[in-house]
Amino acid sequence: MGLEPKNLESSIPVPSVQELASLKLETVPSRYTRDDMDSIIGTVPSDKTLRVPLIDMAKLVDSESQETELQKFHAACKEWGIFQLINHGVSDESLRNMNKQTQEFFDLPLKEKKRWAQKPGSLEGYGQAFVTSKEQKLEWNDMIFLKALPIEDRNLEIWPENPPKFRESLDRYSQDMRQIAVALTRFMAMGLEIESQELYNAYEEGQYQIRMNYYPPCPQPERVMGLTPHVDIPGFALLLDCGDTPGLQVLKDDHWIFVEPLDGAIVVNMGQITEILSNGLYKAPEHRAVVNKSMERRSIVTFCYPNLSFKVGPAKELIKLGSPPLYKTVTVEEYIGCFFNRKLEVPFIDAMKI
Ligand code: OGA
Ligand code: NI
Repeated sequence: MGLEPKNLESSIPVPSVQELASLKLETVPSRYTRDDMDSIIGTVPSDKTLRVPLIDMAKLVDSESQETELQKFHAACKEWGIFQLINHGVSDESLRNMNKQTQEFFDLPLKEKKRWAQKPGSLEGYGQAFVTSKEQKLEWNDMIFLKALPIEDRNLEIWPENPPKFRESLDRYSQDMRQIAVALTRFMAMGLEIESQELYNAYEEGQYQIRMNYYPPCPQPERVMGLTPHVDIPGFALLLDCGDTPGLQVLKDDHWIFVEPLDGAIVVNMGQITEILSNGLYKAPEHRAVVNKSMERRSIVTFCYPNLSFKVGPAKELIKLGSPPLYKTVTVEEYIGCFFNRKLEVPFIDAMKI
């Protein structure tokens, strides 16, 4: 990897992994093998009781149970940065519907999917993310990435029209995810004891970008990565696991822990905007996706950002004598610009450190 900054926004086109998987090869091509990484499968947690926390939004809302559930929520954000959320208020029907549309989209022939392919220099559309050099190891994953909210951000020329109900479902789904994000800001503000209205408005008018991932079965799952370990950039990500094949893993106390899919639940994963806002108290965890020998897997991930002019920096209430700000304050727009033009070698959040 060279030292010059790479523009991450331009991705080199690479073959469809779904097509590759359909060849039923016995071994995977070397461009995908990750013998550079530590053991992919087989990192068994020494403590089997380690389980990603479960938060019940109905209990957060109800005045009788709020205090106890808020403590659980606050602890989950501090110690894990990831949890499964149930009773989040979005109907099973909306989740099932988006799930079905996504499945039907990936099931289309390649030529049809390519009608909505990424254009040169853009990440949006159908393809693969962040391929910036010919030597780069590839991930066992195809995806479609679409900006969904605000409505002016939609690039309809790459919003699939097939399956026929795709657009309508994504429209509804993105608004449902915004509803969860906005609700979460209230509990975040309560947990951190910071002013909530500004945060609430920032996500109410925020940006919502949706990445649908397809992980085909892989003949050698222990040698590839579905998604390389990374930390998310936005405020948080809301992930819907589309079936019961586990694939998402989070790094906790040096162990990779599976997030076991739970029907109807949404996985909430803190991103670096939240880590900065909380002055390091809430953690944006490292996570990755592994793949399976016989089962395919799909996930739908909504990246939630505050509006572009919102100032990302440690909340003023958290800056006291003895806890100085750990990060600079920049607008969301500057923050995103910095991400796309950074040096890959520098962990992104470090670029924001004072
Ligand atoms: C992501 C992500 C995990 C998954 O898209 O940023 O972490 O399980 N996805 O698909
Ligand atoms: Ni992620």
